[in-house]
Amino acid sequence: MAYDTRFYGLNFGFDSFNEMPYINLGKAGLRVSRVGLGTWKMGYPERGDKARVGRDLALRILDRALELGATFWDTANRYNESSGNSERVLGEWFRAHPGERRNIVLATKMAGAMDGISPNHCGLSRANVLDSVYASLDRLGVDRIDLLQFHRPDPHTPVEESLEAVADLRRRDLVRYLGISNATVDDLRVYRELAHHYGLPLVCAVQNSFNPLDGEREGRRGVLAFCARNGMALIPYSPLSRGLLTDRYLPGKSVGQGDRLVDEGALAQINSAETQEKLRRLGELAVRESLTVAQLSLAYLLRMPGMGPLIPSASTVEQLEENTRAAAVELSEPALAELRQLFVDERTLDLENL
Ligand SMILES: NC(=O)c1ccc[n+]([C@@H]2O[C@H](COP(=O)([O-])OP(=O)(O)OC[C@H]3O[C@@H](n4cnc5c(N)ncnc54)[C@H](OP(=O)(O)O)[C@@H]3O)[C@@H](O)[C@H]2O)c1
Repeated sequence: MAYDTRFYGLNFGFDSFNEMPYINLGKAGLRVSRVGLGTWKMGYPERGDKARVGRDLALRILDRALELGATFWDTANRYNESSGNSERVLGEWFRAHPGERRNIVLATKMAGAMDGISPNHCGLSRANVLDSVYASLDRLGVDRIDLLQFHRPDPHTPVEESLEAVADLRRRDLVRYLGISNATVDDLRVYRELAHHYGLPLVCAVQNSFNPLDGEREGRRGVLAFCARNGMALIPYSPLSRGLLTDRYLPGKSVGQGDRLVDEGALAQINSAETQEKLRRLGELAVRESLTVAQLSLAYLLRMPGMGPLIPSASTVEQLEENTRAAAVELSEPALAELRQLFVDERTLDLENL
């Protein structure tokens, strides 16, 4: 019998929130904003954690992200000198907005060492998975994590042991979905086979380094194609190549100390003839499309099969607003063709397999 959704007050047609388009996270039922927010650089710089975005500004960015519907928020226990401070800032926001918890899809990660110094205080053992999740929940001030991501595979722990730990957390509704980060196609195959074999949680999202300029990092090629084929979402991290794919590094613009990329030692990359030529062409196309370079780059990523939500970091409210607008951009066919010509080379994509 067909339900009359009006009668039951149900409407499964919602595909946006605060005007932000939503997509499923791979084949999972969880729906996420096409453009979300990476919170790596949020923290308490006055405590020496080297965060770029201090507490007050971070809270304003989070407020604005909710208003814009950019509600997929990515953090990790280790962000900013293994301090836990990115999670702590988010925790301040959640404590101040308890009614909004249900509107945010919260993703965090664990695996790397934090303050513990014994070999049991890192990795994906049962002990460290459970202890890390309890500590993250405490810092975040929430009672569940929507997407728990293993920050990287752990060659010293049987995968079944890590998956069992997540299964237990799911039974207690402390974690709802599982993702993995910095994984190869071989890692993903193992995770998939063992999850099927033992009836354990399936990985629904893979967070790997991926941006239009560099494509998939060496050693992790083919992951996007694997995601597309197997109903997983690739969450590309550093999607703006840490700020390089923005208007600020266009030829002729002055680059200075205090810029994150410069501080991170990327001056040679910025100034290379190859990068400058690509940026010049991107800049021209962006002007023709009435977009910025950041929007063009993000909109291009969103067109790729297997692509999940994007999580650019923002150091200002204006950057967030600019990046978020990419979610609704429909690139024209000529613009797409030009972007493919500009970006796709042997390092970028295993296009044959998409
Ligand atoms: N799983 C992992 O191992 C892993 C690793 C890295 C990152 N991540 C995740 O991915 C997220 C994003 O990565 P990311 O921060 O490395 O790189 P990104 O998103 O590519 O670049 C963000 C940086 O670009 C600049 N920026 C952003 N929007 C801009 C705009 N519209 N105009 C001009 N400049 C702009 C800002 O730098 P300024 O401060 O210089 O303005 C910002 O910090 C992180 O927050 C984190 O959640 C995960």
